Amino acid sequence: MGKRNTQQINYLKKLFNRKFRDTYKNLKVLVTGSTGFKGSWLCYWLNKLDAKVIGIGLKLEKDNIIYKSLKLDNKIKQYFLDINNFNKLNSIIKKEKPDIIFHLAAQSIVSESYKNPIETIRTNTLGSTNLLEIVKLNKLNNLVFITSDKCYLNINKKKAFNEKDILGGNDVYSSSKAAAEIIFHSYHSSFFKKKNKFLNKVTARAGNVIGGGDFKINRIIPDFFRSIKSGKKLILRNPNSTRPWQHVLEPLSGYLLLGKKILNNELKNNFYPSWNFGPQRINCKKVVSIIKMFYNEINLKENFLIKKEKKMVEAKLLSLDINKSKKEIGWSPILNLNECVKFTSDWYISYFSNEDTERVTEDQIEYFSKK
Ligand SMILES: NC(=O)c1ccc[n+]([C@@H]2O[C@H](COP(=O)([O-])OP(=O)(O)OC[C@H]3O[C@@H](n4cnc5c(N)ncnc54)[C@H](O)[C@@H]3O)[C@@H](O)[C@H]2O)c1
Repeated sequence: MGKRNTQQINYLKKLFNRKFRDTYKNLKVLVTGSTGFKGSWLCYWLNKLDAKVIGIGLKLEKDNIIYKSLKLDNKIKQYFLDINNFNKLNSIIKKEKPDIIFHLAAQSIVSESYKNPIETIRTNTLGSTNLLEIVKLNKLNNLVFITSDKCYLNINKKKAFNEKDILGGNDVYSSSKAAAEIIFHSYHSSFFKKKNKFLNKVTARAGNVIGGGDFKINRIIPDFFRSIKSGKKLILRNPNSTRPWQHVLEPLSGYLLLGKKILNNELKNNFYPSWNFGPQRINCKKVVSIIKMFYNEINLKENFLIKKEKKMVEAKLLSLDINKSKKEIGWSPILNLNECVKFTSDWYISYFSNEDTERVTEDQIEYFSKK
């Protein structure tokens, strides 16, 4: 692919301008979890919006490809730091005084929470509490606190969870996120909520996200592309679990929109300060169905094996009610399932073909912003 000329670059800037550029241009934005899958996409998008991006995250894992592919080293100010280190985290945030924080840092893998439950709780619950306390101490204004759709107590009922449903978790990852939510809400009631003021600290709960550049272990789409690369059979452990599939740009657009609303004082104090970001119900599909769509998209014969996991309990049904986000902040998902699968496949194929994945990322954000 060739380089873009100035005219093309100006055209792209105009497109990026459409939704968020006026809000984020020149703003100091701190993203925790900047080295991860969603954090890297978010930092890249914010950089395109001309925000001054500061990242906090652990050192890159050896199979991390997204942070490097997007050349974030040259685009953001990165601190490699454990959020469990209160004093270091506090001194960086105190020094940087960000205009807004997007908190994504977490131990994000359910199976890992079976192996390392304490570590999962330490980061997801206590590390997140460190951040809340630092926000409070430094009187920072704007925070979007990202948890997960898994924060809801899931007893496999055929219902979509709304924001006021009971929180809980059968696995430690889910309970660590539910606990982070409960603590956020205590901070909200005890310290953040002010009479006659607008909301400026909120939580966001999104579901399973797919998209280019995710290479975490024990996530089904990265596992799928690893199996394609190696030629080995893909192992499906929970083929009949239904998940709310969405492209990474969907929840990120929700986070950016929430950020815009709090920065512009548009969220009334009486709103419940949490919002779900999930796909339309039609995008809730079984794991096995989505995998078949991927084989079809890249034109390869199905090559998978079903192996039931006995030890790990993952909820079978999980879907989010997104009416609150539609009504209160005007957010709706944009991409259909075929587009999500195509975007994701295009990204990995360009990566495996040594093409310019930064350009693919930019094009996908552009397409998304235009829709
Ligand atoms: N990917 C999904 O499908 C999904 C679904 C729902 C919710 N989430 C949530 O969204 C957020 C981002 O998810 P992701 O997929 O990008 O995860 P990821 O695992 O790819 O990235 C996690 C990020 O957090 C950082 N991190 C982990 N422990 C840390 C610590 N102790 N100190 C500092 N940084 C630390 C990592 O370095 C990395 O930057 C997480 O909170 C996750 O739980 C993700």
